Formats: sequence, structure tokens, C-alpha cells
Amino acid sequence: MSGPRTAVAALAVMLALGVTPALADDADIGREIYGEFCLNCHGRDMIQAGGVSSDLRKFPKDDFDRFRNVVLEGKGQAMPAWRDKIGDDDLKLLWAYVRSGG
Ligand code: HEC
Repeated sequence: MSGPRTAVAALAVMLALGVTPALADDADIGREIYGEFCLNCHGRDMIQAGGVSSDLRKFPKDDFDRFRNVVLEGKGQAMPAWRDKIGDDDLKLLWAYVRSGG
């Protein structure tokens, strides 16, 4: 028989196993992608020791177009273009992470 108790138990097991339930946070998945591609320059939790790269915590949270453009095309000398590595889905997950503020 399945009911609320079963669902709670299933969730507890998933969490214990470290499985992220579907629909878990896009921002959490975005954080993983960020860790792979962006962390080196933009810092852990978007906080950088040096401060050479843009502070992503201050990036306007209502400007997906600008975000998309910068990430895909790059900016200046140091911000690489990611269009060959990052597709639309990943871009949305990254955006969810950036909007979460770290
Ligand atoms: C090799 C270092 C490096 C990596 C890796 C990197 N960035 Fe950047 N990023 C920079 C620098 C430097 C700037 C500032 C560029 C400028 O303003 O001229 C920047 C700027 C930005 C900006 C702000 C642009 C604006 O309009 O203000 C965004 C957004 C951004 N990066 C997102 C990302 C994301 C997302 C990733 C991972 C996919 C990433 N960056 C990976 C170096 C990097």
C-alpha cells in the first residue's frame, strides 16, 4: 500500500543515499556545472579571493539575455566563450544557480 508514509520513507532513503529527487533544485545542479566550468575564475560560492573576474553575485538577476550572451560568446580577454561546451539546458541550470546568489 502506498500513501504519504511510504512517500516520506522513500524520500528519506533517497536523501540517505545522496540521491537528489527529481525536481530538486535546478540551482543545485547548476552549482555542479559551475564547479566544473566556472569556479576556477569566479570562485567557490561565487566569492573570489582575487577579484579579477566579475562578481556573479552582483549580476542582474532579471537579465537572462545578457547572461546567455556573455556565457556563450565570452567577454573581454579573460572570460572564455562556452558555446561549444554549454548547451541551452546547462545554461538554464547555471542561470538558476547564479540567480540563487551562490
Ligand atoms: C578563465 C577564467 C573564467 C572562467 C573559467 C569563467 N569566467 Fe566568467 N568572467 C571572467 C572574467 C575575467 C570576467 C570579466 C570580463 C570583463 O568584464 O571584461 C567574467 C565575466 C563573467 C560574467 C559577467 C559579464 C557581465 O556582463 O558583467 C558572467 C555572467 C560570467 N563571467 C559567467 C561565467 C560562467 C557562467 C562561467 C562558467 C560557464 C564562467 N563565467 C567562466 C573569467 C572567467
